[in-house]
Amino acid sequence: MDVKMSLTHCNKFIRGFMMKIKLRNILMIALTMSSLILMGYGEEFTYVGAKKCKKCHISKKMGAQYKVWAKMAHAKAFDTLASDESKKIAAAKGISDPQKSESCLKCHITGHGLDKKIIDSKFDITLGVQCESCHGPGSKHIIVRGKSKDQKKATGKPLPITKDEFKFPPSKEVCIKCHNSDSPTFKGFDFVKKFKEVSHLKPSK
Ligand code: HEC
Ligand code: HEC
Ligand code: HEC
Ligand code: HEC
Repeated sequence: MDVKMSLTHCNKFIRGFMMKIKLRNILMIALTMSSLILMGYGEEFTYVGAKKCKKCHISKKMGAQYKVWAKMAHAKAFDTLASDESKKIAAAKGISDPQKSESCLKCHITGHGLDKKIIDSKFDITLGVQCESCHGPGSKHIIVRGKSKDQKKATGKPLPITKDEFKFPPSKEVCIKCHNSDSPTFKGFDFVKKFKEVSHLKPSK
């Protein structure tokens, strides 16, 4: 009798214990999943477009990168696709409008072919090859620099720039995604030389 009692008691205890473990496991899994989703969400970088960079990168003090870029061939890469030369190249390939063709847009604008979710709804493709083609999507950088401004006001010190804010400096791999023999006008690509032509470091550097 006593043994039976204690056995049922024991069973109950074990079942209760198992239930607790299950519940804890489910909770743990749910917690991990939700934090993974949250982390993933936070890490999702978006392409915002050159106009968003202009606000902070146009003053002389900052190095006026926006002005330098606006004078580059890159800023006109979409317009180029409307030129007579482009129309000729396109016609030979059976393309009627280069500004609407995947075969040209993939190198003449920023972010072409990427998931729409990571392209800002106000992104303007007519600005051609923009900052983020070389420096990577800028959403995180803009948020961090915004916070940094507040911190600088409060403590006098900005937040340090971290590697994952964007690609800097851009590597050769970044350039040769577009500067390669798939370009109908390709004449070779001397990375060191072309890098210098494109570079827009602050005058103090
Ligand atoms: C809210 C202001 C702000 C905006 C908007 C902004 N930046 Fe910046 N950015 C900064 C500041 C501040 C620095 C640090 C400058 C320094 O230390 O000289 C910086 C630095 C950089 C650097 C150089 C980092 C280094 O290691 O020297 C790059 C590249 C850059 N930004 C690209 C961009 C791009 C591309 C955009 C648009 C997608 C953008 N920024 C938008 C404020 C901004
Ligand atoms: C998204 C594609 C893309 C990326 C990435 C890219 N470029 Fe370009 N680049 C172009 C296109 C398109 C043109 C031609 C624009 C025009 O004339 O309309 C061009 C033109 C140029 C030119 C002027 C024409 C020439 O050949 O001398 C230089 C210099 C240049 N790029 C250097 C670079 C460097 C250096 C990098 C990497 C740091 C780079 N580009 C990354 C697409 C790109
Ligand atoms: C693989 C990337 C790539 C593709 C695809 C591409 N281009 Fe380009 N395009 C470039 C680059 C990079 C340059 C500048 C250097 C060069 O000529 O390779 C350029 C330059 C040009 C130029 C010369 C601009 C000038 O000022 O001399 C024209 C015109 C042009 N492209 C038209 C087109 C057309 C039309 C298409 C589609 C049929 C096309 N491109 C497809 C990358 C590409
Ligand atoms: C074709 C590629 C390309 C494009 C497009 C481009 N950059 Fe750059 N950027 C570079 C290169 C190359 C450097 C110099 C890196 C070096 O010399 O170490 C640079 C440097 C910078 C720096 C650092 C300046 C410093 O002194 O620390 C900033 C900030 C910057 N770019 C912002 C921008 C902004 C904003 C835009 C768009 C308005 C833009 N870049 C467009 C390639 C590009």
